[in-house]
Amino acid sequence: MTDEPDVELEARLEEQDSFEPPEEFVEQANVTDPGIYEEFEENWPDAWEQAADLLDWDDEWDEVLVEEDAPFYEWFVGGELNAAYNCVDRHVENGRKNQAAIRWEGELGETRTYTYQDLYREVNEFAAALRDLGVEEDDVVTLYMPMIPELPIAMLACARIGAPHSVVFAGFSADALATRMNSADSEYLVTCDGYYRRGDALNHKEKADEGLRGVEHEVEDIVVVDRLGDKLTHFLGANYHDYDELVDDHDGERVEPVSRDAEDMLFLMYTSGTTGQPKGVKHTTGGYLSYAAWTSHAVLDIEPEDTYWCSADIGWITGHSYIVYGPLALGTTTMMYEGTPDYPEKDRLWEIVEKNAVDIFYTAPTAIRSFMKWGKEHLEGRDLSSLRLLGTVGEPINPRAWKWYYKHVGDESCPVVDTWWQTETGGMMVTTLPGVNEMKPGSAGPGLPGVDAKVIHPDKEEVEPGQAGHLTVQKPWPGMLRTLYQNDERFVQEYWEEYSDPDSDEWIYFPEDGAKVDEDDYITVLGRVDDVLNVSGHRLGTMEIESAIVGVPGVAEAAVVGGDHEVKGEAVYVYAITEEGTDGDEDLRERVVDNVEDAIGPIARPEEIVFTPELPKTRSGKIMRRLLEDIANGDELGNTSTLRNPDIVDDIQQRVSDD
Ligand code: WTA
Repeated sequence: MTDEPDVELEARLEEQDSFEPPEEFVEQANVTDPGIYEEFEENWPDAWEQAADLLDWDDEWDEVLVEEDAPFYEWFVGGELNAAYNCVDRHVENGRKNQAAIRWEGELGETRTYTYQDLYREVNEFAAALRDLGVEEDDVVTLYMPMIPELPIAMLACARIGAPHSVVFAGFSADALATRMNSADSEYLVTCDGYYRRGDALNHKEKADEGLRGVEHEVEDIVVVDRLGDKLTHFLGANYHDYDELVDDHDGERVEPVSRDAEDMLFLMYTSGTTGQPKGVKHTTGGYLSYAAWTSHAVLDIEPEDTYWCSADIGWITGHSYIVYGPLALGTTTMMYEGTPDYPEKDRLWEIVEKNAVDIFYTAPTAIRSFMKWGKEHLEGRDLSSLRLLGTVGEPINPRAWKWYYKHVGDESCPVVDTWWQTETGGMMVTTLPGVNEMKPGSAGPGLPGVDAKVIHPDKEEVEPGQAGHLTVQKPWPGMLRTLYQNDERFVQEYWEEYSDPDSDEWIYFPEDGAKVDEDDYITVLGRVDDVLNVSGHRLGTMEIESAIVGVPGVAEAAVVGGDHEVKGEAVYVYAITEEGTDGDEDLRERVVDNVEDAIGPIARPEEIVFTPELPKTRSGKIMRRLLEDIANGDELGNTSTLRNPDIVDDIQQRVSDD
């Protein structure tokens, strides 16, 4: 290929701001009827039965939605089902026992394939083992594991016996593990000895042990997977167990899947909020699983025959809904990759796509921006023609990255779905339907059928096209969180108080995102309006980071803001006041970094740390974060005359440019 046509193509793409779904895609898509929006509107909430109908229920529901206790909504009330049965057994029973359920690739290149029969066997064996250890229905089991097959197996084993899991991202620190286990009163932990990152074996078990030392209650049992295969596993007591041995001990055993009420908890997932304490988001069995399955069907267009790959980590909600529960409920083949996208080479992901003939690929804009930076040559030698659909999630995607993805990964023949949602929503909320809607790069799309997404002003009126406002959801949906674990009050405060009017029984969900809308009701999400950062698609609370920083001797006060970052989207910028007599030197800087990594994990590592004698504050003493953000981004500063200490602004700017 000469350069010339490419330039023309780039220019054409540059100008094009909407794209029709490729015909070939539409011809085979799961959802193609534009009437689906009306259908949901006219037949709401009963239309949601089509989501629930994707599952097998032990007992049909009596009522689709019970609103009596709003905002504590209940879905598919009276229904009973088991999530593991739906994700595993029924596919075995339906004659697909030999189909691959999970294809896993380790960072070093080793692969493992679990057919639905293999998965059935191991989930049963591990469920039997958990039960033997004493895990009972409703006991929270913490899973602190990286991207190894034993993680989804453990999740499904928990689901089988009705024990909710709480997965803690393996990149989180020991402290973060302890906080989550304490908050959930979790007495069981499944973890592993280590895993590979950029070719190095990381010691994960040490972190787990350290976390366990911070757990305030008795921990009954700890199961350790021997990922590194060298039996390095170091057992610290009689309540430590080797995963393989447990599974061997229960060889061939079967555990009857427990019939769970639709509203019974399937799992807990902790996420960052405005305060220092992470929030335990509670998801249920019936509504969540229906919603994960439905969106996987309608938006990701998953068919059982597909090889589907979501490159997220199962430690985040994206992995829960779209590596494990949604795809497996639909009986497809879901891929898992343990490692980093640029190891050993920057074409690693494309090698995996080619080798496995991946049909559907779902990733984050931060990854796409890395691919762009590395250059398209890393894709050129790879056959990506198996791809049919592309998706993104986690943060806003800029049109340039969208088009790059569309062109260089999708060869202009795959729709791109930009899906807005949250840990709390359980599944996708705002996105195009790939077989129905045209796509507009940079704009996620309309609310899904049945999802009443509206962008509003503080007075609750909808904004005019082009204006910015707050994104809200004005009707409940099956995948919604039911509460924050053991904290109903905070649940109401965090999500409902802002816009609801309990006196007239009007409940409006506020996700704390800003957004714009256009004349076609396409929503462009602008980002968080609370003190939560989105670093590489990961949610981090500024308060959590700040409290780690003020824990460093010598630091008196700290403010954390998000600075723009080419690849990560946002990066952690720290402004810290040192105590009298302490120098803001390299040593202090290192201690700040270490403390943040110890409290949260390397993902929260500060990009920039500025020591300053003061922070800009309003007359009432509030830190002016907006101003610090402008300084971080080198943006023009607004009026600073309302500050109590306007002089400090120049001083801080000076310190930033000296760095
Ligand atoms: C952001 C991840 C713009 C948003 C599934 C939200 C997005 C937060 C998008 C939730 C998107 C997610 N466009 N912003 N397509 N998807 N976000 O809980 O700010 O880790 O509130 O869930 O990510 O992050 P969470």
